[in-house]
Amino acid sequence: MSDELERVESERAELAEISRYDFLGIAGVASAVAAMAFSVIGMLRLPKPRVLPDVSSTVRLGKPAEFPPGTTAMRPHQKVCVISTDEGISAVSLVCTHLGCIVKLTESGFECPCHGSKFDDKGEVLAGPAPRALRWLAVSQAPDGTLLADRAKETAPDTSYKAST
Ligand code: FES
Repeated sequence: MSDELERVESERAELAEISRYDFLGIAGVASAVAAMAFSVIGMLRLPKPRVLPDVSSTVRLGKPAEFPPGTTAMRPHQKVCVISTDEGISAVSLVCTHLGCIVKLTESGFECPCHGSKFDDKGEVLAGPAPRALRWLAVSQAPDGTLLADRAKETAPDTSYKAST
């Protein structure tokens, strides 16, 4: 009787061992198939960019009447400061030349909130770590009279655009 019991226990243990091996084998194959499937999906998605390119570097500032001479208009959402004088309209980039934070207007010019760079009212560096002055951007006018600033076109400091009204 004892031999019979041992034999049954041995068979049961063997069956349990085999089913564990089967499970591990199936799990291994399933993992490999899933990894290959995700790889193929990833490769198929490569040609399609996930980030849309910036369609235009030009920002619409508004009509010339919105910028009377002697005013300064901050446009942080457009990363531009519009300076209007008797000579015309100028646009200064608000992107800090250190690591790209948006600078804020102060009484004496501009200051970066990230690492403390200071710029004068012409955008020249007064205190680092910014390596160079703020960029002056080319200003133009759309056919409908709207002033445009081109973030891709830099002009000499103090360049102003005489807008037609
Ligand atoms: S990003 Fe402006 S000082 Fe560092």
